Amino acid sequence: MAKRFFVGRVSKPPSDIVKHALSSLRDDLRLFEYDIDGTEAHNIMLAEQGINTVRDCATILYWLEQARNLFREGRFPLDESLEDVHTAIEHFVVSKAGIGYGGRLHAGRSRNDQVAVDIRMYVRDEIIEVSRTLLELVESLSGRSKEFVYAVMPGYTHLQHAQVTTFAHFLTSYCYPLLRNVERLLEAFRRVNRCPLGASALAGTSLPLNRERVAELLGFDGIITHSVDASSSRDFMCEVASILSLIALDLSKMSEDLVTWSTHEFGFIELADELCSTSSVMPQKRNPDALELVRAMCAEVVSSAYSLHLMLSKLPSGYMRDLQLTKPPLWRAIDSVKQVLQVMKEAVETLTVNVDRMREASLANYANAVDLAEALVMECGLGFREAHAAVGKLVKQLSTEGRAIHQLSSEELSGRLSEILGKKIRVGSDLAQLLSNPLKLVERRRVLGGPSPQSVERMLEEISSQKTTLLQEVEKREKRIGQAKQALQRIVREYLERYAVGEGS
Ligand code: ARG
Repeated sequence: MAKRFFVGRVSKPPSDIVKHALSSLRDDLRLFEYDIDGTEAHNIMLAEQGINTVRDCATILYWLEQARNLFREGRFPLDESLEDVHTAIEHFVVSKAGIGYGGRLHAGRSRNDQVAVDIRMYVRDEIIEVSRTLLELVESLSGRSKEFVYAVMPGYTHLQHAQVTTFAHFLTSYCYPLLRNVERLLEAFRRVNRCPLGASALAGTSLPLNRERVAELLGFDGIITHSVDASSSRDFMCEVASILSLIALDLSKMSEDLVTWSTHEFGFIELADELCSTSSVMPQKRNPDALELVRAMCAEVVSSAYSLHLMLSKLPSGYMRDLQLTKPPLWRAIDSVKQVLQVMKEAVETLTVNVDRMREASLANYANAVDLAEALVMECGLGFREAHAAVGKLVKQLSTEGRAIHQLSSEELSGRLSEILGKKIRVGSDLAQLLSNPLKLVERRRVLGGPSPQSVERMLEEISSQKTTLLQEVEKREKRIGQAKQALQRIVREYLERYAVGEGS
């Protein structure tokens, strides 16, 4: 067990049971290198401000780099009696460099602002990665859409036939919300990318810190000014978790659609074998397990965001240890969303489409009824409500006879409608023919955002240009963080070279 190097007024160490409950070491592993970066930036500033000597700083930086190397090699000593990653790293430096050097590393800092800076640095990287993965899924969806601009299918509301549409129109419908979520993530990035260091435990420090300098060294866009806000606000975590849950809702809907359309009853699409599994007893089974798990994982993401909100809902101001447990739900939400995005990308790229079956189903159950009503408005001068009522009555008659609208000749259609409306209606043979041709019906729906091949192609262009702009935004942020990381590493190397510190120094 590590020797405790800060005891304060608590004279007894926690019991084994309590220690286990208290430690966040396991959950902190993904923060390890961010913690090193944060501590390096803080210590460079402490030296620049003359709070520690440059020699102190060089020694501390040397041992921090050693810790980083050991961690990368999987050899860093992780001792659960050490509460968290911040303590473990400080303990390592103190034990290697001695309290004379290592004991200076934490000046002007608290684990409260320290954990906040680590989470912010980690989350901003994840925002970039999730955004990239989202844009890749949009790319796959729009790529597949291009193949199916003419593939007619029924569109559903209430899972009942509504209007004829195309498979491309459906696939593109997923792109817009996904793009909006990239926008949301990038907006949240602005608020995440602010540096809390210098806030200390709650109310700042009397040491002459330069907060802006630390923020700059770590690639932040500035500081979180107020020390209470900086050390204990977690709204940025809730914001990101909420966006992740919006993404999960999109993906859950998409998986639900694909599962439904791949059933024998629909038979519109077939999922690749790689996404299915069979039954241990029924050899004929091809179950869409991957997409079912996607649905469940999406639910988990939503519940993670919810638990995060609940944990915060009863807290007073200032840091509380409860905040430690806000990390795992956010980690879970991030991991699940990334995994789900990849599964959905594979599903979209590999699915096969039964265009004949889709076309066959496209006019079933009177999916052309609105088209008829609209034609009566445009071609016979009826008001829409009048046309709606007449077609409603016609469909009622036909459904008892087991016939479809497009099975009626123009004469029969004219006769029935005239009788229903109590006035002469003439339906031309071209209209009667049109009603039996789903592609023609779709081609008439040229309204912006509609399913006509023209409108879908226009949307595909819009999706592609939005995707390019957003990708540039993502890359800009990624580049800025990368440059800050490199610059920080350069400064660390300069210190190490100039002061030739090493083991035994
Ligand atoms: N392990 C803590 C966390 O994850 C770090 C901050 C500890 N601060 C404290 N005052 N005990 O939140």
